[in-house]
Amino acid sequence: MAFDAEAIRTEFPILSRQVNGQPLVYLDSAASAQKPRAVIAAMTRAMEHSYANVHRGLHTLANETTDAYEGARKTVAAFIGAEPGEIVFTKGGTEAINLVAAGLGATLQAGDEVLLTEMEHHANIVPWHFLRERQGVVLKFCPVTDEGALDLAAFQSLLGPRTRVVALSHMSNVLGTINPVTELTAMAHAAGAVVLLDGCQAIVHKAVDVKAIDADFYAFSGHKLYGPTGIGILYGKAERLAALRPYQGGGEMIGAVSLDEITYADPPHRFEAGTPPILEAIGLGAAIEWLSRLDRVAVAEHEHRLYAHVRERLNGANWLKVLGEAPGKGAILSFTVEGAHAHDVAQILDRYGVAVRAGTHCAEPLMRRFGVTSSARASFALYNTHEDADSFVDALLKTQAFFA
Ligand SMILES: Cc1ncc(COP(=O)(O)O)c(C=O)c1O
Repeated sequence: MAFDAEAIRTEFPILSRQVNGQPLVYLDSAASAQKPRAVIAAMTRAMEHSYANVHRGLHTLANETTDAYEGARKTVAAFIGAEPGEIVFTKGGTEAINLVAAGLGATLQAGDEVLLTEMEHHANIVPWHFLRERQGVVLKFCPVTDEGALDLAAFQSLLGPRTRVVALSHMSNVLGTINPVTELTAMAHAAGAVVLLDGCQAIVHKAVDVKAIDADFYAFSGHKLYGPTGIGILYGKAERLAALRPYQGGGEMIGAVSLDEITYADPPHRFEAGTPPILEAIGLGAAIEWLSRLDRVAVAEHEHRLYAHVRERLNGANWLKVLGEAPGKGAILSFTVEGAHAHDVAQILDRYGVAVRAGTHCAEPLMRRFGVTSSARASFALYNTHEDADSFVDALLKTQAFFA
């Protein structure tokens, strides 16, 4: 099936707007992606047509909304090869990781080890630091090579008898590196560790089969996957979720409550205290259904062609430093421009209508690893075109000339 980015673009109303008098070139999808009409329509339809709080409902709207909400859970489950009971709705990728860290944390002792990597987003660092600060858990970090890959020999040697958890990103939000997670998961399991994968970036660009990877937990967000904000997913193997301590307390997550004791609902509801993100779940379900109609391999090839074209046009630019050149990487270009602060680069690009992100990308340890305080980042999505790639390079060349 051929992939037609020009046709896809028309399904994203926002992409036809202008910025600073120029056509918008949106290259910030790794931070948050734009939304297709199918998602906007599904959420609007729910609000206009069939909305009430979910579960416990004895009236038609409550039952219809519950069906839509639980239907979205089934859609997510099918998308990653899981069972609906293994899918927890959270408010984002960050909350999904916090939920696992808090739950597993309750089983860890001082001196137990959690193995992370130098390329993690803060979302997959800070929750583990809580366990270090509060209960003496030891954090270890797998180093990243100069080209931006994980050092697999170091990963193996960092696994030891005290390693209880291994938590790492499937795809780096800065380097674009796609980690060999099936292999890493097998190595971690052989050492007796529980594995959590941060799939916030990978899920957007790759078909993910959690059973094939065999990770115990897999977290991702809705808003990067062309869905709404305020929704994330935690997949957990059924037996892992059953053994995990509840995260937040409140309505919906209980079996029964008395003045003396409580019992809990079964997973996944045990982890969904309070009114859940109902409309957001419906929106995410619509995003996944929409995305699933596309040939995802062709989409990834398209994104990669854009990246390769940009890289080729910038080849030999001695003022440019690119972070992350690992083989097989995804379509994320993080870079610095000699003599210019990344924030200034991003602001000047914006004058040309080009939206990129600049800063530490919530990955300060990785910035330090590469000896920079910040970088600019252009990330390519399915709706970007060859023309976008050229507009970006043209604008970047003008930006660089400004600082030269
Ligand atoms: C690799 C990675 N992990 C975690 C997150 C946090 O996800 P969320 O924004 O859904 O909390 C992000 C978002 O930038 C990310 O790129």
